[in-house]
Amino acid sequence: MARGDYKDKIVLITGGAQGIGLGMAQAFGQAGAQVVVADADKEAGREALQRLQSQQHKAAFIPCDVSVEHEVIALMEKVKEEHGRLDVLVNNAGIADPFAGNLDEMQMSEFDRILAVNLRGPVLCAKYALALLRQAEHPAILNITSTRAFMSEPDTFAYSASKGGLEALTHSLAVSLAPDRIRVNAIAPGWVETGAWQKEKERYEPQHTREDKEQHPAGRVGEPQDIAEAALFLCSGRAGFITGQHLVIDGGMTVKMIYT
Ligand SMILES: NC(=O)c1ccc[n+]([C@@H]2O[C@H](COP(=O)([O-])OP(=O)(O)OC[C@H]3O[C@@H](n4cnc5c(N)ncnc54)[C@H](O)[C@@H]3O)[C@@H](O)[C@H]2O)c1
Repeated sequence: MARGDYKDKIVLITGGAQGIGLGMAQAFGQAGAQVVVADADKEAGREALQRLQSQQHKAAFIPCDVSVEHEVIALMEKVKEEHGRLDVLVNNAGIADPFAGNLDEMQMSEFDRILAVNLRGPVLCAKYALALLRQAEHPAILNITSTRAFMSEPDTFAYSASKGGLEALTHSLAVSLAPDRIRVNAIAPGWVETGAWQKEKERYEPQHTREDKEQHPAGRVGEPQDIAEAALFLCSGRAGFITGQHLVIDGGMTVKMIYT
């Protein structure tokens, strides 16, 4: 996507202070958007804002826990005050660790917390962004799901269920919001390395074994930029005939047949 394709577009990215969200914030900024990063981690948010502004991107940081209704309402109020509309909502914030223990031991409070952030959060954000999205010329919502919506390792019940729910929410919102011309799509990432995209005190140098790389037909682990490139396309007018869909971006890992 060329610099300027998102000129003056208002793009809100939840969980945009670190990881894939920060990679997308940088890419949308580079394409000319005014990026609003909403994140529960204030320290990470401040660092992300510095990073984006030092790259000359137009960016703002608004602290928000997407699972808390009144915080999401306040977030959208701020976007309304500043911009009056929203062109793109990226529901990216999530508890990214998929392991919450086995079924015997898993605390239901932990299950509820994961569902609250990963599934209720996107519902709240879409609900309270609606009036702002209706003011945009070509509005779009993008949900960041996971290949774990379709396949599992053991003991990842809550995460997988939350992402499966988010996949279903994607097609349901696409149909429900069609009269408002709002397109709704999802990206389902596989393994994306975010070590270099964390806040300073949690940043680490990624180390991948040959096996890590070779289990991907693409021959490597993913990077936030891999997701960002597709996000730019799916949220643009070039994808105007695509809604209710998901794009799996996993270096081919989930189509690889395994015989042991
Ligand atoms: N990294 C991967 O391999 C991978 C694979 C598939 C899907 N995903 C999904 O991509 C998204 C981003 O993952 P990531 O790996 O970049 O994670 P990350 O932990 O690096 O970043 C997530 C960001 O979301 C924020 N956040 C967490 N809870 C929040 C809340 N309640 N309200 C607002 N912000 C909150 C965190 O502070 C953080 O800045 C998640 O939805 C995750 O499930 C990641």
